[in-house]
Amino acid sequence: MKDPKLRELDQRAFLRRLNPMLRVYAAAMRPPGDQLPGRTTIMARHARHPGFRALVAEEPSRVPGMSGRLQGFTYGFRGVPGQWWHDVVYDALRRRGGLDHAEEWMADGFEVAELHVRPEAQGRGLGRRLLSALCEGRTEATVVLSTLDPGAETPARGLYRSVGMTDLLTDFAFPGGGPPYAVMGGALPLRAYRSASSSS
Ligand SMILES: CC(C)(COP(=O)(O)OP(=O)(O)OC[C@H]1O[C@@H](n2cnc3c(N)ncnc32)[C@H](O)[C@@H]1OP(=O)(O)O)[C@@H](O)C(=O)NCCC(=O)NCCS
Repeated sequence: MKDPKLRELDQRAFLRRLNPMLRVYAAAMRPPGDQLPGRTTIMARHARHPGFRALVAEEPSRVPGMSGRLQGFTYGFRGVPGQWWHDVVYDALRRRGGLDHAEEWMADGFEVAELHVRPEAQGRGLGRRLLSALCEGRTEATVVLSTLDPGAETPARGLYRSVGMTDLLTDFAFPGGGPPYAVMGGALPLRAYRSASSSS
């Protein structure tokens, strides 16, 4: 497999490529199939949020002028009151650590909503490249996200920790059911990468 190239998508290009992104999401996360239509709706709504930025990683196309096969994608936006995830997490942080704590993390936050790499392309640095490029040059003070928390380390959590992100909430149940999540946050710009073995 050739090294995938990263490309930024504007809102229209993102909406046009929802289906290929959904296929990467399905391969990476293996969600129940009936969740995919709802995920499409959520992603389309996210594209209208302020400060939206999306990146795809695609193989070089064999056909000039055509897009290559997607190997990964990521996107995020500025978190503001009135957004479901923002308000749920803000409230949980406020209950846990007080108003200042919630404000510190959420008042000027960049939310990474999705980051996925096809299983056959994982473990070759693509997830790290996507995350770094997504956060590069952002003007927000913090980066925040949620990721599955099965009670043990995951590749995603290892990646986030390696750029300075820490657990803000663990074993967190979002309203509406579903598995437990960790909410993680870090300061922007992201810390230069340190491997797990060299971080304290
Ligand atoms: C999480 C994910 C995006 C990482 O992408 P990736 O291309 O596989 O990761 P990279 O090769 O860039 O590795 C980055 C770091 O992730 C961690 N990591 C990656 N694979 C790992 C594994 N199998 N076990 C433990 N840590 C791992 C390591 O910290 C690694 O850093 P290193 O350079 O010290 O090895 C990808 O594994 C994925 O799509 N997973 C399934 C979907 C998912 O969980 N998405 C995140 C939702 S929040």
